Amino acid sequence: MNDRLTVEVHLGHDELAASLRADVRHGLGSRPYSLPPKWFYDAAGSELFDQITTLAEYYPTEAERAALTGCAAEVARTTGVGTVVELGSGSSDKTRVLLDAFDRAGQLRRYVPFDVSESALRAAGDGLLARYPDLRVHGLVGDFDRHLGRLPDDGNRLLAFLGGTIGNYPPVPRARLLGQMAAALRTGEWLLLGTDLVKDPIRLVAAYDDPGGVTAAFNLNVLRVVNRELGADFDVDSFRHVARWDAGSEWIEMRLRAERAMTVRVPAIGLEVPFAPGDEVLTEVSAKFRRDGITGELTDAGFEVVGWWTDPAGDFALSLSRRVA
Ligand code: SAH
Ligand code: TRP
Repeated sequence: MNDRLTVEVHLGHDELAASLRADVRHGLGSRPYSLPPKWFYDAAGSELFDQITTLAEYYPTEAERAALTGCAAEVARTTGVGTVVELGSGSSDKTRVLLDAFDRAGQLRRYVPFDVSESALRAAGDGLLARYPDLRVHGLVGDFDRHLGRLPDDGNRLLAFLGGTIGNYPPVPRARLLGQMAAALRTGEWLLLGTDLVKDPIRLVAAYDDPGGVTAAFNLNVLRVVNRELGADFDVDSFRHVARWDAGSEWIEMRLRAERAMTVRVPAIGLEVPFAPGDEVLTEVSAKFRRDGITGELTDAGFEVVGWWTDPAGDFALSLSRRVA
């Protein structure tokens, strides 16, 4: 125990299981089949994601780190805040670039990581306490689709949402989430948002389909989660990872494709899911952005965009916005 670390669990195992049952009933109970991406991130999935971030093909992590390195001091100075809240914080690895700048400016007081993965959150918290001797870490285990109203509120916060995770929401749910983020902040508080940018589809597809199969293992992991938590009998080896660029929507779509005919049983909800060869489950979209588009979405949600930075190659953007009245 360390008195600088608090972890509030808003999503314990039972509630997590109930929420997964509802999502699986909805997503696999009718066609086209889908599963929401938050279920990738059990302990094994969070580790596979960390491996993805080290792949040469997966450029977003290093591009965002470069963009953060370029703007962190300015973000600290402009916002002047002492509390950094981070949604989908995962390993909080890149966050250190930001926290270092706040620390150097002498204004780092509190870090509030918020993640559905309790294992990732606890491991990250321990590392940060060791790195910043005066920092208090207040972790929240929860679902940012449902628990944004539970953020600690000192009126002096920067909300960071990195990794391009906002792109995992299609436009309508994205507008809802941005609106909930605005509602969770007070006028004058801040949002630092990481968005991956539209680029050559060949690079995009490679980032989501590496030859070593790490991304495939990550995508397939959601079936293992459903097997373990709901007693389902997905034969994971009979599905294949598919990543495709949708030029109309400007997003990468991740799917799991059945390689043979089968019926999958999900006893916890009394569901039988028939698959023909080639039938697919949509597991994630990863939208890529343009500056005008995301600026408009932020404005519609109640933010004023006051800063925009990219890595030197222009692959990934960070925007700083202020909650307006
Ligand atoms: N910010 C990190 C991790 C990005 S991966 C980075 O940039 O590398 C997305 C993270 O969001 C994972 O840690 C996952 O557990 C978390 N996550 C996904 N959906 C979530 C949800 N609905 N509520 C809370 N956390 C979620
Ligand atoms: N938020 C990450 C992204 O959109 C998640 C991610 C990376 C992902 N690679 C993946 C999700 C592969 C599913 C499959 O870039």
